[in-house]
Amino acid sequence: MYSEKVMDHFQNPRNVGEIENASGVGTVGNAKCGDIMRMYLDIDDNGVIRDCKFKTFGCGAAVATSSMATELVMGKTIQQALEVTNKAVMEALDGLPPVKVHCSLLAEEAIHAALWDYAQKHGIKIEGLEKPKNDISEGEEEEDY
Ligand code: FES
Repeated sequence: MYSEKVMDHFQNPRNVGEIENASGVGTVGNAKCGDIMRMYLDIDDNGVIRDCKFKTFGCGAAVATSSMATELVMGKTIQQALEVTNKAVMEALDGLPPVKVHCSLLAEEAIHAALWDYAQKHGIKIEGLEKPKNDISEGEEEEDY
């Protein structure tokens, strides 16, 4: 049911933890399944993500997608990090079962929320970044679950 990469990132998640005085912190949840993810970004003066850590209180797929998301945004510029969509994370993990696709949305939204926090703190606007939702289940169809 799960790819080897998903199992690997679930069993050995990369970059778990917190960053003290992070440049940006984002927390998102999904009220329907109750899962929560927090992403910490350390961004240097050139707008490059130097470090990224996460904490996830959630299902195995949420852990695996957040782990992979941290690996994908590390060393990237803010604009490149915006291209790390849930689809990109899923592809990097060799796919997720259809009922678990929503879990990967937590990872994408958590990155966006952390970038949003960074932009707010620095009084800047990041092109292409919209205000993230705190609860990604908002507006979703009931039958998705
Ligand atoms: Fe909620 Fe996976 S079941 S994030």
